[in-house]
Amino acid sequence: MKKTVRDLTLAGKRVFTRVDFNVPIDENGEIRDDTRIRAGLPTISYLLDNGAAVILASHLGRPKGRVKDSLRLNAVAKRLEELLGRQVRKMDEVVGEGISRAAGELKAGDILLLENVRFHPGEEKNDPELSRAYASLADIFISDAFGAAHRAHASNAGIASYLPAAAGLLMDAEIVNLSRAMHNPRRPLVAIVGGNKIADKIGVLTNFISLADSLLLGGGMANTFLRAKDYNMGRSLLEEDKLTQAAELLRLATYNDLNLCLPVDLVVADKVDASAEAEVVTVESVPDDKMALDIGPKTREIFSRLIAEAGTIIWNGPLGVFEIDKFAQGTFAVARATAESDAFSIIGGGDVVSAVEKAGVAAMISHLSTGGGATLEFWEGKELPGIAVLNDC
Ligand code: 3PG
Repeated sequence: MKKTVRDLTLAGKRVFTRVDFNVPIDENGEIRDDTRIRAGLPTISYLLDNGAAVILASHLGRPKGRVKDSLRLNAVAKRLEELLGRQVRKMDEVVGEGISRAAGELKAGDILLLENVRFHPGEEKNDPELSRAYASLADIFISDAFGAAHRAHASNAGIASYLPAAAGLLMDAEIVNLSRAMHNPRRPLVAIVGGNKIADKIGVLTNFISLADSLLLGGGMANTFLRAKDYNMGRSLLEEDKLTQAAELLRLATYNDLNLCLPVDLVVADKVDASAEAEVVTVESVPDDKMALDIGPKTREIFSRLIAEAGTIIWNGPLGVFEIDKFAQGTFAVARATAESDAFSIIGGGDVVSAVEKAGVAAMISHLSTGGGATLEFWEGKELPGIAVLNDC
């Protein structure tokens, strides 16, 4: 078990707090989705309420060690001020004399936000000198950046060598919920995996095949599995180079006595477009000139029945092109079934989280993970460096 912010004495302390405010920003510099900023608020408020001064650090995008004006944290600072209803002093540098002076002047209840840490070339190299410079600003290190926990960078990993290091409330909730679903699930454990590529999810699929009771597959990746079972998939998206691996995973599922469910019917069309004419076909009769873009009604029914009987549900990846209404019904039906079930349910990955929000049932899911790559690596069973560095209880 990792130490959390609740285990520490905070009054009068300066706390270097790594958050993941890597939010989508549009061409006008406006934040399109502030979920990750909101998710960081409980820890920030907890620190302030307990008499600490907070130094916030986050990355935004991938500026590769160079200053990129479009990736400055100005819009983030503004939104944070609005959400917290208090002043946030936004700095234009990551480290340096100005930052050290500003940190030295902090009083209980103050908030300082550093510039995008990835502007510094030492950040992604986990440079010990940079880690020490961060550590020199504070008395305690708190990591709330679950979304970046699969990266070993200076502000979320290296710094922990020089300060007492504990998890923030979001980081703790992610670890507790994701671990509970994987290591101590109420059974049956139903895993749902979608999205386009098997290549991105081999590790997760392999792990779920050994952990779950049922594995429901949809989205583009299901096409490759169906092709590996010799179905004609017409013009559907396929990973030809992953057919052997798909066949191996199918064999592994049989060996593990897993109930692996592939679609039995599909919604197909001749193009990925809202104007396309959609039709429902069985997996045995996909036309040569059509592509699969969603699971069909019979599959929705089978998936929903298994979900209704689940004790725990883990879901990553949409089951169709949910951005287009006529190809969204499979993903939405599964979202509703998950929300209505009594199971402990966890959804990870930005695209399914937004699909569940679009379906209007996000509030009924037990835990929506803020991680993308981090959640996947956690589910692969890997030890994440940003978690490993935190002090044990
Ligand atoms: C994410 O969006 O998944 C995290 O913020 C990590 O970002 P990265 O993939 O650029 O490291």
